[in-house]
Amino acid sequence: MTEPQHILVLGGGEDQLPAYHEARRLGYRVIGVDRRPDALGAAASDLFLCMTTRAPDRIAAMVGHLDVAAVISPASDAAQESVAELSRLLGTPYQPAPDAVRASVDKGWFHTVLDRLGLPGYAYAQSSDEAELRRAAADLPLPVIVKPSDSSGSKGVQVVADPAALPGALAEARRHSFTGEVIVEEMLLGRHLSAEAFLRGSTLATIAVTERSTTGAPHMITTAHTVPAELTPSTEIRLRSMIMDICGELGHTDGPVNFDFVVDAADEIRFIEMGARLGGNGMPLLVRHAFGINTYEAALRLALGQPTELTPRHHRKTALRILTADTDGVLLGVDGTDAVRALPETVELQLFAEPGSRVHRYTQAGHKLGYLLLVADTHDALRAAQARAESLLRFRIEPATPRAASAAAPRSEELTEQIR
Ligand SMILES: Nc1ncnc2c1ncn2[C@@H]1O[C@H](COP(=O)(O)OP(=O)(O)O)[C@@H](O)[C@H]1O
Ligand SMILES: [Mg+2]
Repeated sequence: MTEPQHILVLGGGEDQLPAYHEARRLGYRVIGVDRRPDALGAAASDLFLCMTTRAPDRIAAMVGHLDVAAVISPASDAAQESVAELSRLLGTPYQPAPDAVRASVDKGWFHTVLDRLGLPGYAYAQSSDEAELRRAAADLPLPVIVKPSDSSGSKGVQVVADPAALPGALAEARRHSFTGEVIVEEMLLGRHLSAEAFLRGSTLATIAVTERSTTGAPHMITTAHTVPAELTPSTEIRLRSMIMDICGELGHTDGPVNFDFVVDAADEIRFIEMGARLGGNGMPLLVRHAFGINTYEAALRLALGQPTELTPRHHRKTALRILTADTDGVLLGVDGTDAVRALPETVELQLFAEPGSRVHRYTQAGHKLGYLLLVADTHDALRAAQARAESLLRFRIEPATPRAASAAAPRSEELTEQIR
């Protein structure tokens, strides 16, 4: 009897979970890794390692006796260096390009790549030295944006409009940085967009350009993506060409890659960050509903050294709404799910939190409570459907504040959190 083959998936959150299911569907056993014992991946894996994804040597030692056919970590920048190291140690078919990994985990270094290519830049300073960052920030027009250089999911990201708030923002960003490096950037004005692309043989096999809504300042956390973004044909062509230039420079010839960028009033494109991996915030779900392409399967097949299928089956106007709460507390229940699922535009509603679980105000992407995917014929119809769904769906939350806890009998409105 042949030994069973395994796929190693780093991270066990909602954006990694579909990779567990796809891996099993393709006939592999799944080894999941996440430091949270209650991660979704714990129940979805055949073997679960409850530990950090950032210890490739230890992980390799623990799985060394098994036949590991591929290593993958969708959506997680923090795990990309481990994916590369584990792919090397375990000798799996796909080896990520070292510069693509570096550009994914070091925002300042990504800026130097843009500069080298002559792509439109903007002012920034990156350092682990607070005094240096303060001096650099003083030379930038306000507001500035302060971020950990190597984190993701909006952790520690803050827009600073008042110089007095700078030290606190620097400290908060540092708290979320693995290396202690913080980046201060000029705040770009314009439309926020993302691109979820997949390269094959140094060409763009597929790309979804999404219009992104955010919470706005101070945290700029993504709340929704709509595809296709309404770009002029010349902007779209420039975007594709810039993405190909960046990937070429980094040696990223095959595989998924995700970009955040801003398009200003003059249609200039400025890149904010990239990740040479599948996007987070449900981006592969959006691509599946919009184009009929399964990028989780394609990423797994690539990691396995197999041919990938990336032909679009259709082009549908699709919105992904990230469901969130306005308050910390305990989830009592979710109202309106049947009504939302019954809307003709709803193609998928996913909820991540069970009643009774602790939920958090949306101050970082990791606090999301679900994804709602809508499809319509026009952008107007999509917007109308989003508004309708939002009016129907309610997270009932018992707030965690002392004031609410001590209140004798809170009225039901006080327990009702509308999604935002
Ligand atoms: N220089 C900037 N100007 C304007 N907005 C920015 C800038 N940097 C970041 N943002 C906004 O903040 C979001 C989070 O920053 P990002 O660098 O993407 O961090 P993360 O890795 O946490 O996603 C971006 O997607 C963008 O909307
Ligand atoms: Mg980002």
